[in-house]
Amino acid sequence: MVLDKKFEKLFLEVSCRAALSAFFLVGKKDKIAADKSAVDSMRNELNKIDMDGKIVIGEGELDEAPMLYIGEKVGTKNGPKLDIAVDPLEGTNFVANNLPGALSVIAVSNKSNLLHAPETYMDKISINSQNPNVVDLDYSIKKNIYNLAEFKNKKPENLTACILDRPRHRDIIDELKKLNVRVKLISDGDVAGALMVVDEKYSVDIFLGIGGGPEGVLAASALDAYNCSFQGRFLFSSNEEKDRAKKMGINDFNKKYELNEIVTGDSIFCATGITPGDLVSGIEINDNKFISETLITHKSTGLKKIIKTQQII
Ligand code: FBP
Repeated sequence: MVLDKKFEKLFLEVSCRAALSAFFLVGKKDKIAADKSAVDSMRNELNKIDMDGKIVIGEGELDEAPMLYIGEKVGTKNGPKLDIAVDPLEGTNFVANNLPGALSVIAVSNKSNLLHAPETYMDKISINSQNPNVVDLDYSIKKNIYNLAEFKNKKPENLTACILDRPRHRDIIDELKKLNVRVKLISDGDVAGALMVVDEKYSVDIFLGIGGGPEGVLAASALDAYNCSFQGRFLFSSNEEKDRAKKMGINDFNKKYELNEIVTGDSIFCATGITPGDLVSGIEINDNKFISETLITHKSTGLKKIIKTQQII
């Protein structure tokens, strides 16, 4: 079953409004207030939509998040059953410190078509091909790079790998350096990092490394529309995290998820820029109007583009 085209515009509106709300807190050094503002706005907009929606990836569980918590019902209940993954403010540091790259992100599918990801880390890898034999989380960095170089008919030194700049990635980064691969380090925001592989214009050949699990599922929704590959494996650091995952139906803690196990049907994805970034530009205010850019994808209709909108504030 596919998602009705009418939802493209409705969810675009949701992510634009959440982005605008966070925008008012750009540079105010308050991550929590900015996140809350985006969350409140996103929830408000979601509740206007004729759907029986359920948050499957959100701000945490009910005990830790009063709004857009996992399991929260959203929408008028007068419409199809949809599963919704949200990251109303992806890049809280970017907004707090007035840095490029903050996004409001949402992904939507029919009920049960998005993996319910726990709030843990995920090891991820993505390239712009669904050929199953090129890269794999279980291959060494060297094998992935050599395979990709051969597949793209490029030398390793002409490949670029995007990875979060974190001490946990020191060995990977050292290995990439040894292989003479160009590294693009990002300080935060690995949804956008993963999406750098979708178009040659971003000059990223491979995205890899450990980031948030929820962010992995969100990125997978858009990568699916671009026919890219994505693999993810959750990493659990405590029994409490494992217990929470079990409650979500995850029993194999070492499972490597393929893209078609993360997004199992049609999906719509929207990422609206708050501050300007590589992927989309940020919000601009013009009198009583705001201009925003959103990367929107819809797998079944083939929609995948950046839309610029001007709306009344
Ligand atoms: P927030 O917007 O929640 O601050 O997340 C930003 C982010 O960089 C994500 O894009 C990424 O998946 C995660 O944090 C990485 O986590 P950590 O900062 O713990 O390495």
